[in-house]
Amino acid sequence: MRVLVVGSGGREHALCRGLKLDSSVSAVHCAPGNAGIAEIATRHEVVPTDSEAVVALAVRLGVDLVVIGPEAPLVAGVADAVRERGIPCFGPSAAAARIEGSKSFAKHIMDAAGVPTGRSFTCTTPEQVVAALEEFGPPYVVKDDGLAAGKGVVVTRDREAALAHAAACERVVVEEFLDGPEVSLFALCDGESAVALPPAQDFKRAYDGDEGPNTGGMGAYTPLPWAPAGLTERIMAEVVLPTVAELGRRGIPYTGVLYAGLALTANGPRVIEFNARFGDPETQVVLDRLETPLGQLLLACATGALAGQKPLTSREGAAVTVVVAAENYPDNPVKGDVIAGLEPQVEGAYVLHAGTERRDGEIVSNGGRVLNVVGTGADLAQARAKAYEAVAHIRLRGAFHRTDIAAPTWENSP
Ligand code: AMP
Ligand code: GLY
Repeated sequence: MRVLVVGSGGREHALCRGLKLDSSVSAVHCAPGNAGIAEIATRHEVVPTDSEAVVALAVRLGVDLVVIGPEAPLVAGVADAVRERGIPCFGPSAAAARIEGSKSFAKHIMDAAGVPTGRSFTCTTPEQVVAALEEFGPPYVVKDDGLAAGKGVVVTRDREAALAHAAACERVVVEEFLDGPEVSLFALCDGESAVALPPAQDFKRAYDGDEGPNTGGMGAYTPLPWAPAGLTERIMAEVVLPTVAELGRRGIPYTGVLYAGLALTANGPRVIEFNARFGDPETQVVLDRLETPLGQLLLACATGALAGQKPLTSREGAAVTVVVAAENYPDNPVKGDVIAGLEPQVEGAYVLHAGTERRDGEIVSNGGRVLNVVGTGADLAQARAKAYEAVAHIRLRGAFHRTDIAAPTWENSP
C-alpha cells in the first residue's frame, strides 16, 4: 500500500512513522512535511489546503490512501476532492469537519444527540455577550465561533478581558466553565462504526504549573492511570457514538478521527470541544503505543471496513512527549535557528520534528513548536525520565519546554 500524508507537524511525523512501521505499507509520501519527515518519507511541495494540487499529487503517485492531518484542509474540502477522484481518504468531509470548524454547529449537534457538554449561548451582539457572561459568572469562557488556530478561546476571571475577546470576534460562543481534569479521546470512524484509541492528556498552557498563554499543546502522555475505570467505554457510549449517529442522520457520514476534548467534571464527562483530526501532540504518544498496523487501520476507516477489523491493541507501558518550543512561542516564534543534539542518544527515546526545515545541510527551526521528544517506558515515571533525558541533549537558542509534563504532582491529575 502506498500512502500520502498531508501536513507538516509533529502529528504528521508520528503518522508517517506509524505507517512506516506497518509492513503492508510500501511507500510513505508527505506534503509538505518537515526535515524529520524527510528521513522516512518522500516530501512534496504542495499547499495542504489546495484540493486540486493534493488530488493531482495523489493521482501522480498512485497512492492507495490519503491521510489528512490538519483541520484547515479538512474544512476546505480536500477530503471530499480526494474521494471524488475515487481515492480512499482518511479524513472527514468539509460538512463533517464543521464539528471543529464551527463551535455553534458542534453545540447544535450535541444538543440534538443528547451529548453532555457545557451550557452555552451563541452571541452576535455585545448585549447578548453581556447577558451570557452575567448568566454564567466567572470564570468566563468565550470562544470564537470559527477556526482560530488555537487562539479562539479565552478563559478568564477578568470580565473586561472576556468582553474584549468577544468584541474582536464576529460570533462567539459563551460557555459555562467546566471544572475537572481534561482528557483527549480519539475515535477512529469509518462512516458508520467507531473505535477508540487509549485516552491521553495534553498540556495546553505554555509554562509550568499551567501558567501562561494557551498553546497548541506543550506535551502529552498516555495512559492515564488516574482515569476512572470504564472511562473510554463511557465516552464512546455517551459522546462519540451519539455524535456520529446524529451526523449520519443528517446525511453527513463521519470518516476519519473524531477527537473529543473532555473535562471530567464532578457530574461526569463533558465535551469541551470536538476536533475533526488527530490531536497534536497527543497523537505522538497514542500512536507510539499502538500495536495494530496503522496503515491497515486507517485504510479500513477510509473504506468503511472498520467493522471487520480485529480489536485495536496497544502495548503495555507508557509514552510521554515534551514539546521543545521556539523563543517567543506562541506569540511570534523566532525561526531559522540551528538545532543540534538531534541524533538518537537515549535508548527508549526519539525525536519527532514539528517546525523544522533543512537549510545548507543543517536543521533549523521553522515554527513555534519545533520538536516533540518522545520517551517510552514500562510506566509514566520511566517514560517521562527518558523524554527529559533526551530533551537535555537538544540545543536550540532561545528554546523552552515545560518541565512538568506527566509529573506526578501536576495539579490537574487527581
Ligand atoms: P480549545 O481551543 O477549544 O481547545 O480550548 C482551549 C482550552 O480552553 C481547553 O483545552 C480548555 O483548557 C479551555 N476551555 C475551553 N472551554 C472550556 C470550558 N467550558 N471550561 C473550562 N475550560 C475550557
Ligand atoms: N493538542 C490539542 C489539539 O490538537 O487541538
